[in-house]
Amino acid sequence: MSTLWSCQMVGGSSLSLKGVLYSSQSASSLSRELTWKNSRCRINRVGTRNSRIFASMHRKMEDIRVFVVSDLHTDYAENMAWVNCISSTSHQDDILLVAGDVAETYDRFTLTMSILTNKFKHVFYVPGNHDLWCRKEKKDFLDSLDKLDALLRACDELGVESRPLIIGNLGFIPLFSWHHESFDTEQDITGLRVPSLKMVCKDFHACRWSAELCDRDDSLARHFDAMNERHAHTIQEIQRKCEKVITFSHFVPRLDLCPEKRMLFYPNLPKIIGSSFLEARIRSIHGAEGSKAACHVFGHTHFGWDATLDGIRYVQAPLAYPREQKRNMNGGHGWLPFNLYSDGRFSERQQFYWSDYYSVNSRTPDNLELAPWVAKLYKR
Ligand SMILES: [Fe+2]
Repeated sequence: MSTLWSCQMVGGSSLSLKGVLYSSQSASSLSRELTWKNSRCRINRVGTRNSRIFASMHRKMEDIRVFVVSDLHTDYAENMAWVNCISSTSHQDDILLVAGDVAETYDRFTLTMSILTNKFKHVFYVPGNHDLWCRKEKKDFLDSLDKLDALLRACDELGVESRPLIIGNLGFIPLFSWHHESFDTEQDITGLRVPSLKMVCKDFHACRWSAELCDRDDSLARHFDAMNERHAHTIQEIQRKCEKVITFSHFVPRLDLCPEKRMLFYPNLPKIIGSSFLEARIRSIHGAEGSKAACHVFGHTHFGWDATLDGIRYVQAPLAYPREQKRNMNGGHGWLPFNLYSDGRFSERQQFYWSDYYSVNSRTPDNLELAPWVAKLYKR
């Protein structure tokens, strides 16, 4: 997103809302071998790009540390500087999950990911909307899906994981998704002069799609969700074998992972952030009731979030835009990347303004009375 909907929250807490401008494994298909070298594990990939690769890595759970971050947006020099400043020695045995929106251009994306692969033992990636923008590309991509293919090939070449994988007893499952307007099922706030989705969300201009995909219905969301089917056998294997499973996506799987409309400077934000297909996919993996072993990491809205809903822990740890960082949103970025797992267990819940708010206040989407900071904005 490139438009920021920022607001001063009750209690003096500063928070920014971005009004999204926008983005079995069959024996033959499982073809990754694992070797150990100098006490570090190495994965050798064999087979075609689309073959599912599954590796059982014999690391002790206690030795594994998992860090997460989303929305790196390294098109901003400040954010690229942050990536460069990540310790080159502290994370050499660690895993990093990058939940989308790395950079707008292919060149900046590959530069960022190559830096990260030098700092972490394993880097996982799932695409965000900004990653698929074509508007500033020097390369001649046919459309955003063509660019996605190029990004995934680059990940393969850099050793970045974009497919499900087991490390130790942990299962990692990247889930592809895209936002669709019908994700928003809550009552609209009317009577305000709010910009249209097309004005606010740059995805409608900066992405390009083939004729059969439309960004104003759910065809894109269905298309991206169907991509996850390619790894169905591997996901089943992970479900059978892993003690704990971390799924991750760029987009938001549930409406209740975003503040209610009356709290938002752009009340229509929920129409451009999430996918109901994604939540169904998450539940097909973690189960309808979830478990203490289930965690889903997401991004996109730039709201830090850490909440357990219906038995699954949902976490967002965004770097976000420099202007959002300056407002000390999400507690600044000294805590990033967020250490989600270490010493054989998930970390304690991280405090964030909105997930803390909803841990003690019910969500009341039928209440359409604008929050004071929103009312003040629209009165202007
Ligand atoms: Fe995004």
